[in-house]
Amino acid sequence: MSAASPESIQTTILQTLSAGSGEIKDTRTIAVDGRALSTPEDQAAVRGVLDSLSSKEMITYKQITTTSFTLTEEGSQIVESGSHEFRVWSALPAKGQGEPVTVPELQKLVGKDVTSIGQGRAFKNKWIAKDGAGFVRAVEAPVDETAVQLKEIQEKGDHPAGESVTKELQKRKLIQPKKHIHYSVAKGPEFSTEVKQLETDLTVEMLQSGAWKDSSFKQYNFAATGQPTDGGALHPLLKVREEFRNIFFDMGFTEMPTNRFVESAFWNFDAMFVPQQHPAREMQDTFYVKDPVKALQPDAEYYERVRKTHEEGGYGSIGYRAPFSREESEKLLLRTHTTAISTDMLYKLANQPGGFKPAKMYSIDRVFRNETADATHLAEFHQVEGVVADYNITLGNLIAFMQEFFSKTGNHKLRFKPAYNPYTEPSMEVFSWHEGLGKWIEIANSGIFRPEMLEPMGLPKGVRVLGWGMSLERPTMIKYKISDIRTLVGHKTDLDQVKKRPAVRLEKGDE
Ligand code: PHE
Repeated sequence: MSAASPESIQTTILQTLSAGSGEIKDTRTIAVDGRALSTPEDQAAVRGVLDSLSSKEMITYKQITTTSFTLTEEGSQIVESGSHEFRVWSALPAKGQGEPVTVPELQKLVGKDVTSIGQGRAFKNKWIAKDGAGFVRAVEAPVDETAVQLKEIQEKGDHPAGESVTKELQKRKLIQPKKHIHYSVAKGPEFSTEVKQLETDLTVEMLQSGAWKDSSFKQYNFAATGQPTDGGALHPLLKVREEFRNIFFDMGFTEMPTNRFVESAFWNFDAMFVPQQHPAREMQDTFYVKDPVKALQPDAEYYERVRKTHEEGGYGSIGYRAPFSREESEKLLLRTHTTAISTDMLYKLANQPGGFKPAKMYSIDRVFRNETADATHLAEFHQVEGVVADYNITLGNLIAFMQEFFSKTGNHKLRFKPAYNPYTEPSMEVFSWHEGLGKWIEIANSGIFRPEMLEPMGLPKGVRVLGWGMSLERPTMIKYKISDIRTLVGHKTDLDQVKKRPAVRLEKGDE
C-alpha cells in the first residue's frame, strides 16, 4: 500500500471541510484513495499539509494526543487462560467434593508464579477458603474481572471505565500505553477549496498594473530561524599544532623558519653527516626534484670541511672513508625531515655576528617521504621537532627536556630505548604508556647530535646539541580517535568532520 500523496491529502481535507459541517474532528477518520489515514506516518503527512494550509490561513487546526493500550505478553496470557486467581480457583475442588489442595500441590498444578500471585488474590476475592491444611473453592462461578477487562482493551485499545481500570492494569504490567497524535481541523478566514499561489513580494509591476489589489500575500514568518552559517574551521592538525606550539613557547623555545619544502641533499643529509651511500637517500625513499637540477652552493669553506669529514674524518672521527660526490650533495629534494632546517639554523647560530649563543628552537612543519599510502602512512606528514644547543649538555639533559615536554602533552610515563640515527650519538626512541590503548607506544626519536655534524659548522668545542622529533599526525589521530590517516589528510577527508571536531587540550597534567 503506497502512502497518500500530500496533494491528495490536501484535496481531501479541503473538500471534506467544504462539504460537511466545516470541520474535521479527527484526521484519522478521513480516507484518501479509499484508505483511512490511520498510521502515525499518515498523520505526519497530514501535519505537513495542515501547516502549509494554516500558513495561508485557509484552515486552523489543533493537535490532539490520545493514548491507547496494548496487552503485554502476560496480559494476552490472561485473556487466553484466565487470571492467576482464576487459574488457582479452577485447580481447586468445591468444598466436600475432593481433597483440599495444599500450597505445594497447587504449585505443581498451576506453577509457582501463578500460585504465589493467584492464591492471595483469590483469597482476597473470597473465591477460595482454607480447609484443613489446604484450600477449596468458596464460590461456584467467579467472574474473572481482570480477564474481562483485558479482553475489552484487547478489542478496543482502551476501557470505557478509563483510568480507574487502566492505571491498575498498567501497574500490574498487563497492558502498556501507546501515544497517538491526530488533529482536528476547522475552516480558516481564507478558506477555499482552491489553493491560491501566495505572493511573497510586492513588486513594481504589481503596483503599476494594480494586480496587488487582488493578490494574496504570504504572511511573514517571524519565528523562522536562519541556516547555521558555514564559517571557517581549523583542521584538527592545526588545532593540535597550536597546542604543541604553546608548550614550546611555555618552555622558552623560539620557532624556526621552516617555510621551504625543497632542500638540497647537502642540508638534508651531508651537513648532518648522513653518508652519501645511506639507503634513505634512494629514490624510493626520497622525492628528488627534476627542475631545477642543482642547488645553490653552500659556503665553500664549510662545504670543504663537510666533505673532508665524510671522506677522511676529523674531530676525533675516522669518517666514512668513501668518495664524497659534489653532484650528490647538489641534488634538490623534498625535505625528508625538518632536521634539515635545524641543521641550517645551527650553522647560522655558529656563524652569527657576536658568535654562538645558547638556543632553544622548535619547528612544526611538513616533510615528505616516498611511501606507499596506507592506514598509517602518507607520502607527507608533519614533524614536531625541538633542538637545544648549549655548553656541556648531557644525555640527562635530553631526558629531562623530553620528560618536561611530554608531561605537558599528557605523557607522564616514558621509556627510552637505544636507537640509531646517522647524525646522533647516542640516539633514543621514546615510548609512552597509553592508558586507553593499554600499551607502550613509540612517540618520538631523539639524540645528541654528532661532533662530525656540529664541529664543521664552527660551533665552539664544548657546545652540545640535543634534539627530538615526532610526527604531528600520530598524537592527532590518537586524540581524535582516527584510525585511518587518509580520513585526516587528503581527498578522503570528511570536511563536515573538520568543521565539527572540537578543540583538543593535551592534558597538561599536574605540574
Ligand atoms: N630527524 C629525526 C626523524 O626524522 C628526528 C630527530 C630530530 C632525531 C632531532 C634526533 C634529533 O625521525
